[in-house]
This record gives sequence, structure tokens and C-alpha cells, in this order.
Amino acid sequence: MENIALVVGATGITGSNLAEELISQKWKTYGLARNPESLPKGVDPIKADLLDLDHVRDAVEGIYPTHVFINTWVRRSTEAENVKDNAAMVKNLLEALSAQKSVRHVTLVTGLKHYLGPFEAYAKQGALPETPLREEQERLDTPNFYYAQEDEVYKAADRDGFTWSIHRPHTVVGKAVGNLMNLGTTLAVYASICKATGRKFIWPGSEAQWNGLSDVTDAKILAKQLIWASTTPGAQNTAYNIVNGDVFRWKWLWPRIAEWFDIEYEGYTGSIRPLEEEMQNDKLIWKKISEDHGLSIDNLDALASPWHTDLDLGRPIEVITDMKNSRIKGFSEFQSTDESFMNLFKLLKAENIIP
Ligand SMILES: NC(=O)c1ccc[n+]([C@@H]2O[C@H](COP(=O)([O-])OP(=O)(O)OC[C@H]3O[C@@H](n4cnc5c(N)ncnc54)[C@H](OP(=O)(O)O)[C@@H]3O)[C@@H](O)[C@H]2O)c1
Repeated sequence: MENIALVVGATGITGSNLAEELISQKWKTYGLARNPESLPKGVDPIKADLLDLDHVRDAVEGIYPTHVFINTWVRRSTEAENVKDNAAMVKNLLEALSAQKSVRHVTLVTGLKHYLGPFEAYAKQGALPETPLREEQERLDTPNFYYAQEDEVYKAADRDGFTWSIHRPHTVVGKAVGNLMNLGTTLAVYASICKATGRKFIWPGSEAQWNGLSDVTDAKILAKQLIWASTTPGAQNTAYNIVNGDVFRWKWLWPRIAEWFDIEYEGYTGSIRPLEEEMQNDKLIWKKISEDHGLSIDNLDALASPWHTDLDLGRPIEVITDMKNSRIKGFSEFQSTDESFMNLFKLLKAENIIP
């Protein structure tokens, strides 16, 4: 039977890279978003707002996906609101698809906030989890939209009889424009501003993150794990961590990024220096850089998410991620982390997004 993919959130950082991988593996692929204008080539657009059940029902009528990949989220001001809306999006989607009876597997992308807690209590002193983060660690005793989304998947799987897999990446490195969290592009834009203005490339994070071990998740390796889990016999109905497979220290990677951009850097010097403050007056500077170099996007907010970079790099502990569940079942993909960053920088340059 032909595999038909529905990538939900197909314009985001995880969804668009997944859609590209599916197309390269010759899957018939639909891509759903509220504004599905900039989908990867070959993806059939489905325009829908997942917060509106009737709208989703109408939008998915007549398509019969066998594999549904959920790569979407909305950011609200409290975790209680995050739980409400993000769970509703998953519930509405799966309810709308239920009548089709075509779905065989559903993947859900969540992340390490499963272990570290939601943003409002994110890896705060006093509630720090044991690292490496392991798939079998218990849920935290606090509301978390990832748990609410998982529960919607489990409920719908019981109702409709499909299999599922949950995927928990660390910080995702990959190309996307106008999405909510993108550390790689944020650093590329910040470094380009440093280059143009002569400013130093200042480490914005904590001492623990500068000195400690870390890992990240290339959007492409996440895509491969999603497809692997949804098509490999025995891999279903499991939660998987997913990272590149190597570890690094930011005090090693930061100078390498500075070298790539040919700029001077400053490491940890005794206190956190948030990137959000460092970049707060950079909108006009980016506009000017864009004009000078004929860049394609002059809106800094569409490229940089310093609030998220600050949260990730400001954590008071080192964070590394164990991948036992998929390694045991034979997922053996590896991605070198410095190549993840350098490949992204080259792509952003080639697509005229940075000078
Ligand atoms: N980015 C990271 O570094 C990272 C790291 C770890 C975990 N994660 C997790 O990965 C998951 C996916 O996040 P992401 O970073 O890939 O998100 P993203 O890049 O911000 O993309 C979100 C996608 O969802 C769509 N969307 C948002 N609201 C929608 C709605 N109401 N109806 C339909 N589509 C909607 C967006 O398109 P439209 O705006 O056009 O609707 C977009 O395609 C999240 O749970 C996130 O927490 C991300």
C-alpha cells in the first residue's frame, strides 16, 4: 500500500525539513499550516487553522494520509494556555482525520522540555533533572503542553487503532524562516551583525552551558528518525530522544562559529549577558545590512529568536541526551554537530539570507 504523509506544521523548522526528506524518499506528501505558501517543492498544501475543528474537517476532506507527522505548536503567555491550545490542535486534527480511517501511524514531535519543564519553569535551580536525559524518566509534576499533546495522541490511538511514536529533540538546528525558535539562524544573523558593526560575538549564556557538555538535533536527523519510527516494524508505540550522536562544549563551538564569520568573540566572563538585550537595537541595523547586501529578508524578527537562544544557553546545568530507545532498535544515523551549524550557515548564505 502506498505511504501518504500529512506533515502538520510543514512550514516550520522541524516540519519543512521532514517534508523535504519525505519528498526525497518519494512519498506523496501533504503539508498543513495556516499559511502554507512557502512549502518545500513537491508538497501539496493544506491550509487549515488547527484551533478550528470545522475548518480542519473541511481542509482534510478527501485526503487519505497513512502517516501523520505532527510538528506544530503555538506559544502562549502561560503554560496553562499552552496546554489548552496545543492539546486542542492535536485533538482537532486527529478527530477530523478519524472519519477517513486511513491513518496507520502518528508521530508527535515534542522536546526536552518534557524533562526540563515548561518555559516558565525551564531548568530552574531547585527543580533540575538528572542528566543525561533518558527516555524512561518520569513526567514532572507540573503542567506541560507536551504531556497534554501526548495524551491526545494516546487517546486517539485507542479510539482509531493507529500506532504512534513520540520524538524529543534537543535544540533543533536547521533552516526555517518566520518560525518561533531557531537558534542556528539567530546565531548566524547575530554573527553577521557583529561582522558588519565590528562588535564582538558575545557568549550570552551561563557558565554551566559554556563549560559543560551539550548536544543538539539537526532537523535532518530528526526527519530521518520520524520516518524510521513510522515505518520500521517493532519501532512503534515508543518515545524517542533524538540528537546528532556527538557531544560538544560551547566553549569549543563558539570560537569555531566566530572563525567561520571571521569575527572576534568573548566567552563567559562571570555573568549571563542575554542576547535579547544585546540585539534589542539591531532591527534597523539588519535592515541596513539587508539593503547593502541585497538580502532577501530585512525583518530581523522573522529570522532571529534571541529569547529562545537565551533560554537554551542560559540553563544552569549541562544538558546531554541519551538515545537508548532508538539505538537498541537499530536507528544508527549520525550527524556531526559542527557540520550542522556550518551547513546551515552555507545554506543561509547561498539563499541570500545572510551576507
Ligand atoms: N525549534 C526548536 O529548536 C525545537 C527544539 C526542541 C523541540 N521543539 C519542538 O518541536 C515542535 C515543533 O516545533 P517547531 O520548532 O518545528 O515549530 P515552528 O518552526 O515554529 O513551526 C510551527 C508550525 O506550525 C504551524 N502552525 C502553528 N499554529 C498553527 C495552527 N493554529 N494551525 C495550523 N498550523 C499551525 C506553523 O505554520 P503557520 O504559522 O503558517 O500556521 C508552522 O508550520 C514543538 O513542540 C517544539 O516545542 C522545537
